[in-house]
Amino acid sequence: MFERRDVWVLGSETDPWHPILRWYAQAIAELKGRARTNPTSWSYLAAIHGTSVARSNWPQGATWHECQHSSWFFLPWHRIYLHYFERIVRRTIVNLGGPDDWALPYWDYSDTQRPEVRKLPPAFRAQQMPSGGPNPLFVSERRQTINGGGELDATDVETGAAMAETSFTGPADPGAGFGGPVTDWNHSGGPLGSLENTPHGDVHVSVGGLNPRGLMSSFNTAALDPIFWLHHANIDRLWEAWLGQHNPDRQNPTGRARWTDMSFTIGQAAQAVTLTVKEVLDTIQPPLNYKYSDVSVPALARDAVLPSRFDRMSVFGEEGSVPEDEDLVPEMVGASEDGVSLAAEPSEVEVVLESPSGPALREGAEGAGPRKIYLHVENVRGKELVAPKYFVYVNLPSGADPAEYEDRRAGQVSMFGVPEASESDEEHSGSGLTFSFDITGVVQRLQEAEDWDPQRLRVTFAPARVDAERAGDVSAGRVSLYYA
Ligand code: C2O
Repeated sequence: MFERRDVWVLGSETDPWHPILRWYAQAIAELKGRARTNPTSWSYLAAIHGTSVARSNWPQGATWHECQHSSWFFLPWHRIYLHYFERIVRRTIVNLGGPDDWALPYWDYSDTQRPEVRKLPPAFRAQQMPSGGPNPLFVSERRQTINGGGELDATDVETGAAMAETSFTGPADPGAGFGGPVTDWNHSGGPLGSLENTPHGDVHVSVGGLNPRGLMSSFNTAALDPIFWLHHANIDRLWEAWLGQHNPDRQNPTGRARWTDMSFTIGQAAQAVTLTVKEVLDTIQPPLNYKYSDVSVPALARDAVLPSRFDRMSVFGEEGSVPEDEDLVPEMVGASEDGVSLAAEPSEVEVVLESPSGPALREGAEGAGPRKIYLHVENVRGKELVAPKYFVYVNLPSGADPAEYEDRRAGQVSMFGVPEASESDEEHSGSGLTFSFDITGVVQRLQEAEDWDPQRLRVTFAPARVDAERAGDVSAGRVSLYYA
């Protein structure tokens, strides 16, 4: 059994170089020396995730550019990918004379008790190894603040919204649940699962930066940054944490063969790994054989905003059992006339609402309102980014300082994957990313504050920070509201 450990427990600011990190660095130097066509080389490994090399120039038999995003395969695909990577690194370390129980550490940036963990671990910031040679864990193509020891924003690493999700996948449309929407093989599109949006996407862009876009900011380069693998080990760990809440709602969709029987091949020839989703659901069993040193649910920040309350059945004064989110049939009750530009200044859009007439009416349920309310932001696209993400607020008084209305925050739209999804080619339609937020709790708070108008809704997009001084070209399409 291999143990994946917390990188911030292994190393500290004063003592960054635990042997696990030193061996990781040495193995990377070795992988970087291998030919591009070798399935165990650093650049080949990263190309499996994404590459800008044209298909006609791929090594024969290569399965590149396969990362699964905006999909319920996001978590299992990345789990298999990490497993493949970890085995190659371990074998390399053994050949270099290192320990045979090496396992990938994880970067737990969400621990609110230890805000210093929001810094990039020091071994990844040092330009040199203790021996004086160049440090393979360091890359200059990151946001300057991060390489300088600055912290990620607290909102980049919030896990509250993801952990509060009660279903792995959402209702058919527009929800995406914890792990992502039901899709076939999928490279991008939308909507994204909660975990994939935050902290996953936010950490990518906040480490990589936008001006210029660093390695972590794009699908095609992300896995070239050694921190990528520790970030994904943490995302994989948060999947275990979510399941470990032992709430009967929080389960993998194991009854759905379309998910469990899906198989992915990573790598090529002798090194290839082919696994089905069902073979990787228990990490402790072969073939995975690993566990995390800690899978407790991250404590929430004091002011964390939850999308819905656990007692949401009381929201509309209903009694009865909570239906599976997947069984809800959402009905659109309003959509904006126009799209909205996501620029360096906050922008706003109005949505006119109608009473539900279809599935969400739920005949016979006298006086009952929707069980769940989703805000849907469609077709976020653009290639020139100015901000790493936008906070989305509902009914923000005009001219108000968003920071004073955190309880009206519906969610955040992270720019990770937006430029890729705006490109049209064989795999992408170029229609951008779609986001879906469960705002049941926000609406409840608005009702309590008597600030909810069932006939109209105002949605504000406020940039988290402005990273690039330029005009930018990002926009969102329709903004709509669904009752389920
Ligand atoms: Cu496939 Cu974090 O990306």
